[in-house]
Amino acid sequence: MTPFMGKLISKLFLAQSAMAGTFMPEQGTAIAKQVDNLYGFLIIVSFVSCAILIGGMIYFAVKYKRKTANDKTPYITHDTRLEVLWSVVPLIIFLTVFAWGWVIYHEMRSMPANALEIQVTGKQWAWAIDYKNGVKSTQLVVPIHRDVKLILTSEDVIHSFYIPSFRIKQDAVPGRYTTMWFRAEKMGEFHVFCTEYCGTSHSAMMTRVRVVTQEEFDKWLTEESEVGLLSLAEQGAKIFQTRACASCHNVDSAAVKIGPSLWRRWGTEANVDGEAKIKFDENYVRESILLPQAHIATGYPKPSPMPSFQGQLSESQLAALIEYIKGLN
Ligand code: CUA
Repeated sequence: MTPFMGKLISKLFLAQSAMAGTFMPEQGTAIAKQVDNLYGFLIIVSFVSCAILIGGMIYFAVKYKRKTANDKTPYITHDTRLEVLWSVVPLIIFLTVFAWGWVIYHEMRSMPANALEIQVTGKQWAWAIDYKNGVKSTQLVVPIHRDVKLILTSEDVIHSFYIPSFRIKQDAVPGRYTTMWFRAEKMGEFHVFCTEYCGTSHSAMMTRVRVVTQEEFDKWLTEESEVGLLSLAEQGAKIFQTRACASCHNVDSAAVKIGPSLWRRWGTEANVDGEAKIKFDENYVRESILLPQAHIATGYPKPSPMPSFQGQLSESQLAALIEYIKGLN
């Protein structure tokens, strides 16, 4: 690379980061910086390619312009070196972008262990946020410098939870759980938008993430819960009794009642008839409650005598039940 090109590229990089500061939402996480760097690289590559392409076109148009009436176009077939060059250089650039993008994507999609888990439910047209201690909120309040994992679902149609300043978004899909995580590195309030068209008030389906210190967060959480609420797991325990789940499922020993015991099952692998093992997690428990016939545990009668609770439990009741089952050990 010539020194001129080197200078140009470093100038472009400066311009890009200045631009990011002006036109892009502020960077609230470390991932946001990484995303912006990749984006900056793409802008620079596009800029340089555009200059070479358009500049070359103009240069050749002028240089090979027909000058006299008898001017003859020279007979040119091809140049192997040139063809290799314009195939290999873009290939290297594409592979770089792919590898770079993959590294960031992988980090975004690998859920950290011991993250603070928060349940987020989309419905037309608001976000409902449930904390483990039973606090319900319409705003997402999180401590700074702490891994936060959101478990998302929807009551009705597909929504998408997007925090521009954190450069992350994730669909909230009815009938299943999806996850996303972030670690806020900046205090303050950040926008949350719904980025999946979900009906009349889609554009008004907004909330905020408020990033506070750990002490402020603990204080907020305690104050909110002093409304006399039960924790999410306690709500789940109640539902477990009132919906008679306890008549078929043991919760304090491995002994089988009518259905499998739920004691110490969380995170294990469930044997299912005629199929590979299924992870005993949020989605499996949810499916077993709503569609008990879908995956019957090995050794249990078919069809399963368990009734479906489809349409009988709200999303937050399901979340409470799952939280309860999660803690059975
Ligand atoms: Cu919810 Cu768009």
